Amino acid sequence: MMKMRIITLSFFVFLIGIGLAGFQTDYQHFFPGKEWKDDRGVHINAHGGGFLIHEDTYYWFGEHKIAGKEGNKAHVGVRVYSSKDLYNWKNEGIALEVHEDPNSLLVQGCVIERPKVIYNEKTRKFVMWFHHELKGQGYDAALTGVAVSDQVTGPYTYIKSVNPHAGIWPTNYPDSLKSWPVDLDRYERPSEEWKEAVVNGIFLRRDFEKGQMARDMTLFVDDDGKAYHFHSSENNQTLHVAELTDDYTDFSGKYTRVLPGLQNEAPAIFKKEEKYYMFSSGLTGWKPNPGKSAVADHPLGPWTPLGNPTRGTDEEMKTTFWSQSTAVIPVMGKEDAFIFVGDRWTPENPIDGKYIFLPVEFENSKPIIHWQDQWDLSFFDQNENTDE
Ligand code: GAL
Repeated sequence: MMKMRIITLSFFVFLIGIGLAGFQTDYQHFFPGKEWKDDRGVHINAHGGGFLIHEDTYYWFGEHKIAGKEGNKAHVGVRVYSSKDLYNWKNEGIALEVHEDPNSLLVQGCVIERPKVIYNEKTRKFVMWFHHELKGQGYDAALTGVAVSDQVTGPYTYIKSVNPHAGIWPTNYPDSLKSWPVDLDRYERPSEEWKEAVVNGIFLRRDFEKGQMARDMTLFVDDDGKAYHFHSSENNQTLHVAELTDDYTDFSGKYTRVLPGLQNEAPAIFKKEEKYYMFSSGLTGWKPNPGKSAVADHPLGPWTPLGNPTRGTDEEMKTTFWSQSTAVIPVMGKEDAFIFVGDRWTPENPIDGKYIFLPVEFENSKPIIHWQDQWDLSFFDQNENTDE
């Protein structure tokens, strides 16, 4: 009897111990596509993620999804995690909350996707941009929203959402096309003539007065401190790359059309040895498709397509390992070590979506990715100068 009591007591002491200490993960590896617990023992909930390195810490911002069919709408906001080693992530709470006020554009039930945060050295503010769709309007609004905070983990204060560049032409749009008609009904779709009209900017001209569409997006800060906003525009047919103002909270007005008519979504940018690289995807909604890559000498372009970066089976190449790009993380303390991050969407139960972290390798000066069931950062030490 006495023995029983001691055992029961020890069990309770053990439980209290766990309660006080909290759940702790001790991952030493990445397990792409598997459940990934945070410091509370809960699967990480930061989809369409963006990564910021600040004071020797990685921050992972992403869409907080909920269970069920409505889970892709913003019911909560943008969640943020922190990590020192990229394997173990601490929940830092909600960085940007949706609003309860039905008159706010950021009202609960709107769409907030692919949030990205950058730090402005001059203003010492953290600036978040995200793809924003209005409640009850599907994906029609195609806005980009901006919010700021004094602290990296927030709370972020929402400033505004816009269709960028109303009344402003891209710097690489020829004068000769500016007065062409917006005769959308004239074309059979699909047809060669239609494709040509799209490449020649029929949607750009349509949206000239109102402002351009901005859907899937990312941010990139260059070594000189200039920041760029990449977004799918012109009915997702063409990317726009836009320079931000010095404080990063607005567009400077300088922007280019990139890869016109080539249908890029999910852009993710990194820089290696003075070259800028992009991973992106095609347009199949939540379903995966063959990944794409491109290279440029300047963020504003021109960008040259480099083809499908996935190396593997046909199925893997057609689906980017069943994922869609969202970011590339430069690894702290290692030269030219980059991690491709993709989402495995599960629209039937969005909270269940998984993440793909894979090392970026180079083959004939092209960034590529191979599958790994399990890997760790020592991969980059063994694979220095892999480019042949
Ligand atoms: C994808 C896009 C996602 C989300 C989804 C909605 O193509 O990359 O961010 O917008 O479509 O269907």
